[in-house]
Amino acid sequence: MAVLFHEASKTWHLTNDRVSYIIRVMENGQLENLYYGKKIHDRESFSHFHEEAMRSQMTICVDEPAMLAMHYTRQEFPSYGTGDYRSPMVTVLQENGSRISDFKYVSYRVYQGKAPMLPLPAVYVESPDEAETLEILLKDELTGVTATLIYTIYADYPVIVRSVRFANGGKAPVTLERALSASVEFLDMDYELVQLSGAWSRERYVKTRKLEMGLQGIQSLTGTCSSAEQNPFLALKRPGTGEMSGEVFGFSLVYSGNHLSQVEVSTFKLTRVLMGINPEGFSWKLDEGAVFQTPEVVMVYSDKGLNGMSQVYHRLYRTRLARGVWRDRPRPILLNNWEATYFDFNEEKLLAIARKAKEVGVELFVLDDGWFGARNDDRRGLGDWFVNTDKLPSGISGLSEKIEAMGLKFGLWVELEMVNKDSDLYRAHPDWLIHAPGRYESHARHQHVLDFSRPEVVDAIHDMIAKTLRESKISYIKWDMNRYMSEPWSCGLSADRQGEMMHRYILGVYDLYERLIREFPEILFESCASGGARFDPGMLFFAPQAWCSDDTDGAERQKIQYGTTYVYPLSSIGAHVSAVPNHQLMRVTPLETRANTAMFGTFGYELDLNLLSESEIAKVKQEIEFMKSHRELIQTDGDFYRLDNPFAGNRVGWIVVSSDKTKAVAMYGQRLNHVNGNWLRFKLAGLDPDRLYKVRCDITPSDDVPEFVRMVYGIKDGEHIYEAEAYGDELMNAGIPVDQSWMAMKGGDFTSLLFEIES
Ligand code: GLA
Repeated sequence: MAVLFHEASKTWHLTNDRVSYIIRVMENGQLENLYYGKKIHDRESFSHFHEEAMRSQMTICVDEPAMLAMHYTRQEFPSYGTGDYRSPMVTVLQENGSRISDFKYVSYRVYQGKAPMLPLPAVYVESPDEAETLEILLKDELTGVTATLIYTIYADYPVIVRSVRFANGGKAPVTLERALSASVEFLDMDYELVQLSGAWSRERYVKTRKLEMGLQGIQSLTGTCSSAEQNPFLALKRPGTGEMSGEVFGFSLVYSGNHLSQVEVSTFKLTRVLMGINPEGFSWKLDEGAVFQTPEVVMVYSDKGLNGMSQVYHRLYRTRLARGVWRDRPRPILLNNWEATYFDFNEEKLLAIARKAKEVGVELFVLDDGWFGARNDDRRGLGDWFVNTDKLPSGISGLSEKIEAMGLKFGLWVELEMVNKDSDLYRAHPDWLIHAPGRYESHARHQHVLDFSRPEVVDAIHDMIAKTLRESKISYIKWDMNRYMSEPWSCGLSADRQGEMMHRYILGVYDLYERLIREFPEILFESCASGGARFDPGMLFFAPQAWCSDDTDGAERQKIQYGTTYVYPLSSIGAHVSAVPNHQLMRVTPLETRANTAMFGTFGYELDLNLLSESEIAKVKQEIEFMKSHRELIQTDGDFYRLDNPFAGNRVGWIVVSSDKTKAVAMYGQRLNHVNGNWLRFKLAGLDPDRLYKVRCDITPSDDVPEFVRMVYGIKDGEHIYEAEAYGDELMNAGIPVDQSWMAMKGGDFTSLLFEIES
């Protein structure tokens, strides 16, 4: 890996054995983006990659020695006002009202490793030789504002990380109206745009569309989070690229607030990708001497298809974005009481659920919403982070001790950024909620957002929750956030700084996380936002796992988790087995399918196990045992491959293969069952082609299969196990022959099979 610099041509070449990224200083002093893609040889100059063409209506910004027109140039740091008519990366409003800027090259430096970016989340290195960082200093002479473009290239990943640090070295304040993190330009438009879009309970559905001339992209304006609607990620892939082969460029923003990912194709087919903080509603006043750091964009290049891209994100985010003692530890198998009781619980009921959980092998009991203040429904209590002793007479400390005495760990739900008007906190501090003078205070789920852009609000919430954490035996926190922001205005900011509010809010959230994880390093934090509305890389820096979706239906979860794995590692995907009929869809799926799906995540249960039959409890015990013996492979070691796309057809399939390729676990599932169906082959991936594997799958029929079906299929009592031996190349190219009758015997619709593969 290296950052190479060629003085004569003023060209930087960031390269390792998989990727090349090339920039040069143009004749006007600005930077040109010459190449991004598969690794190419280094050369003294790449200026032949610069495309010069005479066009009518060219706005020429330099005549000698070359003739440059910014509108037809692939720019590294496009700014407003010097003849580029596409969307810029930066707009600086100056005292005289001008927004024109001209950032020219001043100097550069290269150093080993990567500098931390706190208070912002960022990927990191553990030793300086893992990466090299290039900083290029640009200056707008007239205002004195500088922009340092920061690039990190990792040795072992086809990854370039980008961000910008602005500083006002001039003599007058300026306002950043647009301060994006990265701009990358491609010479043609023959790409498809891939995005992860959705809504509550259907987060991160994979959407793909062909690029067209003009603007296309995604954004979030929710304020409090990256949103369930648009994940801060996009990819450009060639039309032929699939899961296993072809070129793809991934862009992932390490940020949890309002974001913009935009692709602009010019009428000359230049494709510009822009990513960063959403400029809508944003501005940042930069006084003399002040600095503003943008969040970073993690760009992954893959010539091995979408799985190739995802595996890079998985490994990088699991080991160099997530932090803390839980980063490398397999996650505890938990039971959460939310769907078991909702608000209707008392200590006795919880202990009964916990006791059964302990009996089947669960390790962590999580008490969800409803334990504090007057929180008996969702209309009141948020903000009062002290225990409701009517429900829990021995308090959280007493309950947590009783749970620990059973041999379980104890976890707690909180929603620290919110307040109900019916709460002691609101009555004491009505001005702490986000509101704008004279405007209606919109609410969602009867709750309001606390103004975390104000440090005194964050301090007060910190003190309340830290006290509870100190006084009780708490091993896990589920940090929820259940509404988007409205009427964004802060009484803590002057009129000329109101545009800073939403970014300051997210910095406040990050700050509270940082303080809590430092004081309580052993606590496992799981982030949550009405399910998966804040499932983003920013959060993973603080909480190594996130509740993936409030939709716990087995079949829907397969889609949601499939999309989530485009970027996020299995260790981050909070997934539970819940009751049937499912509470979101009223759908009945087999227990096995719910478990087989949740196993490709952090794994837990979210139901009252006392209500299951004896044979279901026996299955639950087996599932937990299976997960305990495979969770290191699934969560901390293996490579994950998506095999069958549930958005494209009736089936879903995926596999995790150990890093030494000796073991794997795969899941094959179907939506609807077909009568007298065709032959099915489940083709695996990632195995060693020359290795002989043993394949095992439990195809024991479900208890619900009626007698006459047993007769038709010749099913005998007892266990039915499929066992076979096959080479890796057979399993990958010919596939496992899945007998349609297995699916019928398993219960028909929404059934699934779990394969254990070992050599
Ligand atoms: C959100 C979460 C759920 C649950 C409820 C509690 O919807 O996503 O898992 O914690 O809040 O109110």
